Amino acid sequence: MRQTLRRAAITGHPVTHSRSPLVHGYWLKKHGIKDAEYDRVDVPPMNAETYYRNFRESGLVGANITVPNKEVAARSCDRLDDAARTMGAVNTIWLDGSGRLCGANTDWLGFLGNLDQLAPGWDEKAGTAVVLGAGGAARAVVFALLARKFTRVHIVNRTLEKATKIADEFGSRTIAQSWDKLGTLLEEADLLVNTTSLGMTGKPPLEIDLSPLPVSALVTDAVYAPLETDLLKQAAARGNRTVDGLGMLLHQAVPAFETWFGLRPEVDDELRALVVADLGASQ
Ligand code: ATR
Repeated sequence: MRQTLRRAAITGHPVTHSRSPLVHGYWLKKHGIKDAEYDRVDVPPMNAETYYRNFRESGLVGANITVPNKEVAARSCDRLDDAARTMGAVNTIWLDGSGRLCGANTDWLGFLGNLDQLAPGWDEKAGTAVVLGAGGAARAVVFALLARKFTRVHIVNRTLEKATKIADEFGSRTIAQSWDKLGTLLEEADLLVNTTSLGMTGKPPLEIDLSPLPVSALVTDAVYAPLETDLLKQAAARGNRTVDGLGMLLHQAVPAFETWFGLRPEVDDELRALVVADLGASQ
C-alpha cells in the first residue's frame, strides 16, 4: 500500500536561513519516521493572506510561520489557542480532521522549555523580571512570565508606545518603561531578558551597564547568533547565571512536531550540537 507523505514546512519570507528544517529533520530521522518531511516554502507578504487562507491547497499537514507572516497567518486561522489569540500571532499551524486551520503560538513554551532545561528552579521566586524590547519575542516572553506567576514584569523599550501597548494588553503586573530607567529597574530584577535584536551578528551592540543587577539574577538572551552574546559574556563575568537563546528556538519546535507527526521529541545535546555547528558554518 502506498503511504501518503506528511509534509510540513517553515513558511515566511525569507526562509533560506531558517534552522527549522535542520531541527525537524533531525527528529524525523531520529525517530525513524519515513513517511514525513519538512521543507522550506517562501511566502512573500503580498501572497501571504491568500496562501494561509487557502492552506488546504498547499499539500502540507501543517507549517511553522516566521516573520513577517505570523500575524496574517493568525488572522487566517479558524481556531487559535490562548497564546496565539493573546499575541495576535501564530508560529505553528495545522489542519484538523475537519479541514479547519488551527493556529498556536509556541514561542512562549520555547522560552520556558529552555530555562526549565538549562536553569532548573529559575522561576521558584517568580519575582521581578526586566524584559528589553517590545516586539513579537517580547510578547511571548511576557506571556510566559505571567503564566509562571511573576509578580512584576518591566518592559523596557526604545519606543515607549510599543511597550505601553503590551503592558495595557497584559494587565497590571506589566509596566512599560523607558530605556533611561534601566539602571534603577535592574536593582530589583530577578531575571533580565533581552528580546531586542541588539547584539545579534550584524546589528548594533546592546550597550548596558549591569553593575546595579544583583548577582543572583538570571540573565538570558533571545539572540542566539552569536550564541554567547556580549550581554551573556558580561553577565557571566560578574557571576550571574546565564542561559543562551538557542534553546528557545529548539523548544518552540517541540509542540509543533508533536502536533503534526504525533510524537513528542526531545531537545537533546546532539540536536543542540548540530544547530550550533550549522550556526558556526554560516558566520
Ligand atoms: P521580534 O518580533 O523578533 O521581537 P521586532 O518586532 O523587530 O522583532 O522587535 C525588535 C525589538 O528590538 C524592538 O523592541 C526594537 O525597539 P523599537 O520598538 O523601539 O523599534 C528593538 N530594537 C531594534 N533595534 C534597536 C536599537 N538600535 N535600539 C534600541 N532598540 C532596538
